[in-house]
Formats: sequence, structure tokens, C-alpha cells
Amino acid sequence: MEESVSRRDFLGMSLGAVAAVGAVGALGAMKKTWDPLPSVVSGGFTVVDISQLAIGELKTFEWRGQPVYVLKKPQGEAKIEGRDFEVNGEIYTLGLQVCTHLGCIPQYNGEKKEFACACHGGVFDISGRNMAGPPPRPMSIPPFNIDGTRLVLGEEGEIYKQLVKA
Ligand code: FES
Repeated sequence: MEESVSRRDFLGMSLGAVAAVGAVGALGAMKKTWDPLPSVVSGGFTVVDISQLAIGELKTFEWRGQPVYVLKKPQGEAKIEGRDFEVNGEIYTLGLQVCTHLGCIPQYNGEKKEFACACHGGVFDISGRNMAGPPPRPMSIPPFNIDGTRLVLGEEGEIYKQLVKA
């Protein structure tokens, strides 16, 4: 009698262990799906390989608890002084995806090539410049550095300094 109970306990524990391993695996797979691109967050820096960005597809990364968008601009889009930068012949734009009116998160519309803020109707163009509604200024550019094709958010590089000076 006692032996059958302990056998049942053993089976229960075994099933529990298998379920726990499965749950950990599922969480790992879900995290991989959520991650827009391989990025590394460490010591206040977020590192992204921008060569993996698809043209015209906006990706958002977390940097110090804030959303930062990065976009490789589609062919034919002009390079906007003070907003965009070039790496290996491609034009990139990035910014804090936070509305400069009252801090909502503007959503990017790839067809219209603009960000729309649902809170009070603010509109920003593809390079993050305020175009309509109450936002008083463009979305902010976070400090960043370009090291080859690595974008390092949180480091003040030369390109960043030139952008914010313009
Ligand atoms: S917070 Fe974006 S328009 Fe008001």
C-alpha cells in the first residue's frame, strides 16, 4: 500500500518536473519571438546590429526603460539634416518613441510613413519631426554611437553629436 503511494508521488513529481522544463522552454521561445532583433542590454547600453534591419520596417528597442525606434529609410527618402544618418550607403533614422506633447507612444504607419499619436492627434513624419497637432518639437534623439554596423544606445558618438548640433 505504502509502496503504491510513493510510486504515485514519484510519478507526480516526474510529471511536475517535465512540465516545469516545458514551461521554461516555452518562455524562452516566447522571448525570442518578442525580441525584434538580437539586441544586447547591459550596463545601461542597448546594442543592436542595424545591418539586420529590413528597409522601411520600424523596429523598437528598449533603452533604459524607454522605447527607441530605429528605421532604415526606404529608397527615395531624403536624408533629413539633424535627424538622419548614413551607414554603408543606407539612411537610418531613430528617436525616443515618446510624444513630445504629453508622453504617449506614437504608432508608426509604414504606408503613410508617419507616426500618429492617438492621445491628441499629434503627427510626426518618418524622421520624427512634429508635423501636426499639439507636439511642440520633434521626438528626441537618444545618445548613440555607431561602431561598424553596431548601434550602441547610451553612448555619445560623433554622429549623435553632429545630429544634435545641427
Ligand atoms: S500626447 Fe501625443 S498628441 Fe498629446
